[in-house]
Amino acid sequence: MSSHALLESFDDLEPETDDFLSEVLTGLRATRKTLPCKFFYDEKGSKLFDRICDLPEYYPTRTETALLQDIGGEVADCIGPHAQIIEYGCGSVRKIRRVVDALVDPAAYVAVDISKEHLLAAANMLASDYPDLEVHAVCADFTKPFDVSPPTSYPEARRIGFFPGSTLGNFTKEEACAFLSGAAELLGTGGGMLIGIDLKKDIAILKAAYDDAAGVTAAFNMNLLDRINRELGANFDLDQFEHHVVYNDDVGRIEMHLRSLSSQTVTIDGSAFEFKAGETIHTENSHKYDIEGFQAMARDAGFEPQRVWTDSDDLFSVHFLTVP
Ligand code: TRP
Repeated sequence: MSSHALLESFDDLEPETDDFLSEVLTGLRATRKTLPCKFFYDEKGSKLFDRICDLPEYYPTRTETALLQDIGGEVADCIGPHAQIIEYGCGSVRKIRRVVDALVDPAAYVAVDISKEHLLAAANMLASDYPDLEVHAVCADFTKPFDVSPPTSYPEARRIGFFPGSTLGNFTKEEACAFLSGAAELLGTGGGMLIGIDLKKDIAILKAAYDDAAGVTAAFNMNLLDRINRELGANFDLDQFEHHVVYNDDVGRIEMHLRSLSSQTVTIDGSAFEFKAGETIHTENSHKYDIEGFQAMARDAGFEPQRVWTDSDDLFSVHFLTVP
């Protein structure tokens, strides 16, 4: 059986290793060192991420999943019948089940993810659980433009983006706006977007969510260095870096860093990088929004906010936006 036997189509736009190397070198040459967060998600990183989603401290996944379950009927009314659902960064295709269960005769589901093996396994699993649903898979870096083929069943289907998990918060405000504008273009006039956005809240709750007691988030962050060693032949000493989390109040975001425990030199593809003791590589941001702030950004990017739902503790929000 081929790796995509149950899929209607599979488009492989997986980024080249060259892109990985050049983006790593660029990030580490900057005055304040950074690494792009999309590279967290190799096979091992994707599995660690699934474990993060089940951690007691990590409220977003559980809160959003329950919320999607509660509002399913209202979401289905917003989306209407025969829609084509395009999920940005489908991961293990868990949350989409809540949406698909509520929809009336969806035309197709398109899973988009950067992690190829994980994507194919997850999309196939969904296809086998939903035999009546047309499932397509696209392996791509969704921060860059990509194409989606029309559903076989309803070629003129309304396009609905699904972007859960507050992944938009992992972009800077400028990147978020650029991403939303690109999505509005792909979805087209009359299209819609169902998007999950984490809300501002008590800093202790936020910090715990990104620095769990069991150390799973630390392992997820450290896996980036391990991956650079494995795939790019670098020599990061994993015992000489640690997971470091701060809340940046000025910008309203959690920041994840990898902090060097000593003064050291790391070599990647013939280039040497010096680290001072205490110096960090900034690996991830998770911006927290309030409802008005997010809606203003969505408008700037060409969407019209239609509905917003929150859980009873106001931890998390789900928005339905349309492209006028
Ligand atoms: N977008 C989610 C968030 O910011 C999930 C996520 C992305 C995440 N990278 C992470 C969670 C790193 C924990 C650690 O919450």
